[in-house]
Amino acid sequence: MKYKARDLFEKTYGYIAASRLFFSPGRVNLIGEHIDYNGGMVFPCALSLGTTGLIALRNDRQIRLISGNFPEMGVIEVDLDHLEYHNHHGWANYPKGIIKAMRENGYPIPQGFDVALIGDLPSGAGLSSSASVELLMAFMLNETFRLAITRKDLAILAQEVENHYIKVNCGIMDQFVVSCGVEGHALLLDTRTLDYETIPLHLGDYAIVICNSKVSRGLADSKYNERRQECEAALHALEPRFHVPFLCMISYPDFIQNQDLITDPVLRKRAKHVISEHYRTLRSYHLLKNQDLLGFGEMLLESHYSLKTDYEVSCKELDVLVELAMAHGSIGSRMTGAGFGGSTVNIVKKSDINHFRDAVAKAYFRATHYVPDILIAEPSDGVKELENS
Ligand code: GLA
Repeated sequence: MKYKARDLFEKTYGYIAASRLFFSPGRVNLIGEHIDYNGGMVFPCALSLGTTGLIALRNDRQIRLISGNFPEMGVIEVDLDHLEYHNHHGWANYPKGIIKAMRENGYPIPQGFDVALIGDLPSGAGLSSSASVELLMAFMLNETFRLAITRKDLAILAQEVENHYIKVNCGIMDQFVVSCGVEGHALLLDTRTLDYETIPLHLGDYAIVICNSKVSRGLADSKYNERRQECEAALHALEPRFHVPFLCMISYPDFIQNQDLITDPVLRKRAKHVISEHYRTLRSYHLLKNQDLLGFGEMLLESHYSLKTDYEVSCKELDVLVELAMAHGSIGSRMTGAGFGGSTVNIVKKSDINHFRDAVAKAYFRATHYVPDILIAEPSDGVKELENS
């Protein structure tokens, strides 16, 4: 990818001198879904797939942005004083939002720059291509202008851009792991305190396999915001008994005993998913620490079932992928990310992967007429500079 990024930069801007090359990963969440905005623990890892970008400073206040993934959009040209959101700027709103937020937070960005990006994350696959672009831009500026912002604060800034500029009310998980990921590890992140532990993923004979359903997350943003509101309403209904700011601060047994406080059955199901998912995440952490992969696989499957029936963020194709994965050798499978399309995460024996790939791809195509992408996830570092040329 770095050669492609250089090539794109050179062809677009006609020079390459003194540009710096960076990489920002995508992410896959192993377990802990839809609980990062409910004060829960989540368990994602950064991927070796992501976005590569080059930046070179200019002597004026102009900013030029190009993405090799959206060549039809050409160069988007703005300046430091005009960074408002525009629909027709598409992907470029992510870097624009970051630049604007950094300036508004008082970080000195006194001059313009040229940027070229290219990514190998399938977009709409639920692997956080947007957080990847956000953190790439934020990190490039942090390094180029020596702003000394911590990785944690870069993640918080990027989440604020999603919430207030892009207007997707997401939690902190994606931006956090894209910023702070560690090669070979997953992060157990407490989304309430932002404390985290890096957990080595020693999976022995097994690998993490991602299956992209190719159904892109159509309704995701509006349904996502709806789920957040439902969680708030459920928490409100539980208030007479629990004075806590987040659903995940309620234990599962306490919830079961008091669930009748929530009279709306839909809201009750939403709360049940959130509180049980938090429990599954903690349980997964212990199972993985004890090398109990089969137990971990069961947690994944239970998580999928809960996301499908109680949280209702799965879709037919994701359910089919999970079923097929389990029928062809996976020891655990579930949708990952926001849902309504995107990908599943699976644990498959390395020696079975070829068979798994063929069998799942064929049967999935027969059932849905989509050709899935099936790839092995390599837990990787967070955003970083590749080389300084
Ligand atoms: C999206 C959001 C995250 C998280 C997941 C669901 O990826 O960006 O903050 O809520 O959905 O777990």
